[in-house]
Amino acid sequence: MAPIRGLPPGPRMPRALQTAIWSRQAQWFLEQSRARFGPMFSIRIAYEGDWVVLADPELVKQVFTGDPRVFHAGEGNQILRPVLGDNSVLVLDEKKHIAQRKLLLPPFHGERMQAYGEKMAEIAAREIESWPTGVPYKLRPRMQAITLEIVLETVFGVHGGERMAPLRDALRDFLDLTTDPKVLLPVLAIGPDRINNIPAFRRRVGRVDELIAQEIGERRVAEDLAEREDVLSMLLQARHDDGSPMSDAEIRDELLTLLVAGHETTATALSWAMERLTRHPEKLERLRAEVEAGEEEYLTATIQETLRLRPVIVIVVRKLTEDVELGGYEIPAGAGVTPCIHLIHRDPQIYPEPERFLPERFLDNPPGTYTWIPFGGGVRRCLGAAFAQFEMAVVLRELVRRHQIQPANPASERNYRRAITETPRHDAEVVLS
Ligand code: HEM
Repeated sequence: MAPIRGLPPGPRMPRALQTAIWSRQAQWFLEQSRARFGPMFSIRIAYEGDWVVLADPELVKQVFTGDPRVFHAGEGNQILRPVLGDNSVLVLDEKKHIAQRKLLLPPFHGERMQAYGEKMAEIAAREIESWPTGVPYKLRPRMQAITLEIVLETVFGVHGGERMAPLRDALRDFLDLTTDPKVLLPVLAIGPDRINNIPAFRRRVGRVDELIAQEIGERRVAEDLAEREDVLSMLLQARHDDGSPMSDAEIRDELLTLLVAGHETTATALSWAMERLTRHPEKLERLRAEVEAGEEEYLTATIQETLRLRPVIVIVVRKLTEDVELGGYEIPAGAGVTPCIHLIHRDPQIYPEPERFLPERFLDNPPGTYTWIPFGGGVRRCLGAAFAQFEMAVVLRELVRRHQIQPANPASERNYRRAITETPRHDAEVVLS
């Protein structure tokens, strides 16, 4: 049968209304649309254009394995360009994207994670030991403190001393900039190119730029550069295909990209892990027992199940540069196709009783490439996927070893949308003892 030209059907509400629902109740909106229109439907979001949502692993596979010249991810991330810069791996496509990605891959290779393990555990233990017991305590901000400290150590290679505090403050402020609606909305309204003309914006980015430039400058000439294991030091030694080193601007953009992509996401995933575990005390106990026994399996399965049931990001986007045939439609250039993490992970055909938190489902049953996609896929798959899962394992291990943990309120926490991440509404509030 010849494909149908155009977009598959979807909700007929006006774009403004769809956008409003999307920004507050994305998961509900996706589920309703899936029930009504099946595993492929169109939604319309202001500033984003038309999106064809995909909730079928076969269609998701076609997108993730599709030609990167046709499926553009960077184009969908232009809103980040004023803050992350023109060289950021997140905002680029095609050859330029691959060139940056190749430079970034070596420090994030699975085997390299061991080198970071000890530092991560030290940071987590120090932070966890400072937490109060016997009172309701919100974990999400504390998880953010841990992941920020870990980024400073392992990515920037800065530890202790007078350097740490100003850099930490500037990076925190920078991170607020990337999730602050007062900043994001003007970027959307006046476009990424003109936001740099706003003095308040330039000042805040300028502060972080100054500190990073200083760090890069000194690290370039550090005597122990070759032995250092932090990401910055490795990028300074990385070479383009033509043998040239990365410029300061490239390094600056990628460091901030790693910070923005890796900090809040991992902290949120850790918060969800504790939110779910505390509602399932028997699973928390099993995890504790296995961790004490030095076993990894249940810990890994718990992390996989958390990322399945509470994925931090609900969709990923690819903008089409040409018309593409997909699922019986010829989708026009300019539309976005969006593999839907949330819906794939809730498909009862793939995951029986999808609403249940069951780490056991992943024991002896590794996640599938196109059915477990919390990190997206293909040439754009999350560069920090191994890093994030390793970090989650380290932090959870240190936490369950030290504390008995109960939910502050027995009712499950619902999700709350912050910029693009889905966080626990009450920040994973627990009582430690
Ligand atoms: C649980 C934590 C994390 C989650 C859920 C997550 C999720 C994602 C997702 C969904 C994407 C888009 C993939 C796609 O379009 O197919 C992505 C991209 C990316 N992530 Fe992560 N991420 C996490 C942690 C990290 C960490 C720790 C780092 C680095 C330190 C990182 C660095 C990146 C980068 C650089 C990209 C862009 C890759 C590219 O465009 O080629 N992420 N991540």
